[in-house]
Amino acid sequence: MRTQVAIIGAGPAGLLLGRLLERTGIANVILERRSPDYVLSRIRAGVLEHGARDLLNQAGVGARMEAEGLAHHGVAIAFHGAQHRIDFHALIGREVMVYGQTEITHDLMDARTASGGGTIYDAEDVTPVDFDTPHPHLTWRKDGRTHRLDSDFIAGCDGFHGVSRASVPAAAVRNFERVYPFGWLGVLVDRPPVSDELIYAAHDRGFALCSMRSRTRSRYYVQCEADADPANWSATAFWDELRRRLPAAAAEALQTGQSIEKSVAPLRSFVAEPMRFGRLFLAGDAAHIVPPTGAKGLNLAIGDVARLAGALSEHYTERSDAGLDAYSVQALARVWQAERFSWWMPTMLPRFPDLPGFEQRMQAAEFAALVGSRAAQQAMSEIYTGLPMASAESGRVVSRR
Ligand code: APR
Ligand code: PHB
Repeated sequence: MRTQVAIIGAGPAGLLLGRLLERTGIANVILERRSPDYVLSRIRAGVLEHGARDLLNQAGVGARMEAEGLAHHGVAIAFHGAQHRIDFHALIGREVMVYGQTEITHDLMDARTASGGGTIYDAEDVTPVDFDTPHPHLTWRKDGRTHRLDSDFIAGCDGFHGVSRASVPAAAVRNFERVYPFGWLGVLVDRPPVSDELIYAAHDRGFALCSMRSRTRSRYYVQCEADADPANWSATAFWDELRRRLPAAAAEALQTGQSIEKSVAPLRSFVAEPMRFGRLFLAGDAAHIVPPTGAKGLNLAIGDVARLAGALSEHYTERSDAGLDAYSVQALARVWQAERFSWWMPTMLPRFPDLPGFEQRMQAAEFAALVGSRAAQQAMSEIYTGLPMASAESGRVVSRR
């Protein structure tokens, strides 16, 4: 088999890259280790930057998001009882779109099925080979046989635990990492959210977040031990703990119910540099992880593949490799901005175990600095609602602050 771009991973990064390439006439095949049902069963993020929303619309996969998603004009930050609303719309005229990653994945899968794009699910032992030569290819096993796909390029969109980054010689990659000493226990429940907007809450007992997927489905998180087993958290323990950490009005409004999904996410900041190794390009979680506090993981993946699709389009239609050559440096510049923001939120909001008194006062001073300054709130709003996004047709930046 031969294609132009071989994509590893059918998460949002791989599926969206496939979609964008298809729209500019670039042949591609996606190889995914899991089944479609398994991919769709993962509950992940839910907040889209305005540039990510625009891109999904441009890619022709935004109809359901526009119909069912919720445009949010602000978020609330509650700090040990005091609550402050960051009004993005009033501050900078921007908004975010609340629409689950699972739904985006669903829409992208449907679009790919409709267009006849090739996706091979349940592919075992996918291996990128010879990506440092002009003749890269992939091998994998399926139905007891070994298969091979030759391509011009390989896109590693296979998440943090994928094979792409792991296939690069250790000496060629530099990893930057911070692991936080706590995790997030998340619960999805078919009950209306406590509030029309998200609430990020700092409390002595630990951080909590009220989010949502729709007007009838809520997503709640409480800070927990990094190695907590969700099975050890009874429903009552979770709801009691969440209620304790929320401002009084939200605690009263909380409607509890049977959880549809319950899982623990570790908190990690991670960046691998560079994001290109010969003809292998990394995108999304394969190259970087952010703690979920800043709601940036999915948006970063979308930003990477927009840039990569633009650079590949330049390669095939304009015979220019300028975009491909600049991909790693430009993508990383955006990644580090998101890393900074996603690192700053956890410095202010969670309860670090044994946090010395000085740092506790610093957290309070951070909150006061934010609440006390319109400029600080504008800066936060700019990054929360969206970092600049590259055009998927060329390497140019289209969505500015
Ligand atoms: N071979 C083939 N596919 C693989 C392999 C492999 N060796 N390893 C992983 N995969 C697949 C996974 O099964 C998954 O479907 O790659 C896909 C990666 O998807 P995600 O982990 O969702 O990563 P990405 O597409 O970069 O999405 C960005 O944003 O909200 C955040 O972390 C969240 O998933 C989210 C991410
Ligand atoms: C979510 O809805 O899952 C969510 C929202 C905002 C975040 C993190 C997660 O910062």
